[in-house]
Amino acid sequence: MSALRLASLLLLALTASAEHHMSRPRLAQRQSGNNNRPILISNWCTETIYPAILTQGGTGPSTTGYAAQPNTNLTVYVSSDWQGRVWGRTNCTFSSSGGGGSSCTTGDCGGLQACKGPGVPPATLAEFTLAGSQSQDFYDISLVDGYNLGLAIVLLPNGNSALQALDPSTTNPSCVASLNGFAASSSSYNPYANNQQFLGTSSSSPLPFESKQTASTLSSWCPWDLQTSPPLAPGDGVYPYPDGSISRPAFDPCISACSKYGDASYCCTGKYNGPNSCSPSYYSKAAKGVCPDAYSYAYDDQTSTFITPTGGGFQVVFCPGGRSTDIIASKGSGAIKHG
Ligand SMILES: *[C@@H]1O[C@H](CO)[C@@H](O)[C@H](O)[C@H]1NC(C)=O
Ligand SMILES: *[C@@H]1O[C@H](CO)[C@@H](O)[C@H](O)[C@H]1NC(C)=O
Repeated sequence: MSALRLASLLLLALTASAEHHMSRPRLAQRQSGNNNRPILISNWCTETIYPAILTQGGTGPSTTGYAAQPNTNLTVYVSSDWQGRVWGRTNCTFSSSGGGGSSCTTGDCGGLQACKGPGVPPATLAEFTLAGSQSQDFYDISLVDGYNLGLAIVLLPNGNSALQALDPSTTNPSCVASLNGFAASSSSYNPYANNQQFLGTSSSSPLPFESKQTASTLSSWCPWDLQTSPPLAPGDGVYPYPDGSISRPAFDPCISACSKYGDASYCCTGKYNGPNSCSPSYYSKAAKGVCPDAYSYAYDDQTSTFITPTGGGFQVVFCPGGRSTDIIASKGSGAIKHG
């Protein structure tokens, strides 16, 4: 276990884990100054959200947090050796004095609009390690700290012929674990009607979507104790009231068991620090059920990390709607390792 991880466990939910979840080589901090890789951030949510960008290696953009109105895009540029993450903050009100305390219900970074560090869990993360080992790019959607908003990652070939040749239905994962924009009927769901494209794919090679979730299972997937704002019981408002039949709010952020409790078995630390000694927790199993292509705990690499030849850009879509993808289970883990 790294000292960083240990420190973050001790601080628990007071501060977010600065640990990068993917167990893969870390890049040394270095300056390159040549930011040529686009990260297009798209807000498809019906409300304003506050995207945040944290650089953990290489050179990131000067924009580290901003207000994104619904249906808007912003492109930032990062270096070809960038390592970092993008997440969305919700329900923010920033004071004019700036900073101190918390300004957002989820994903807050010290009350600042322009983040200088990681966000407070829960927040769905888009994680990137560009030009990691063997000139490959690694990326994933992580629910390791928790879930707040639906999120998809679309590979942008960026003029690179090796990437243009890839089948986008194997490179563009999506995680939809809240009802906002969820397509409840898996049998009739077709995002490609009228020749539309969806998350960089078309009907000629459609994304494989998860088919088991219903509106009811999706609205109650978060283990009761891990909801950050569980509904009050009717009547006297006894809190918390562990009754799964009470209807939950449409916006129901879910903190991971590791982030909430810090137990070694949940966080894969101490004697559980290894792929063979750590098992998915009740939270990880629930998260994997709603978002099969997302990272759900520290040793989930084989079923959540996408690997492509280096050179591309990426689109991060908040609230993609539709349904979660099920790329890895339906196409085989080989489908996510390209080159
Ligand atoms: C955002 O970018 C996407 C991808 O380039 C594009 O299809 C869409 O039209 C853009 N939306 C707006 C509002 O500019
Ligand atoms: C908080 O933000 C979420 C996501 O944008 C939204 O659905 C919800 O209505 C907001 N809650 C409040 C109390 O504003």
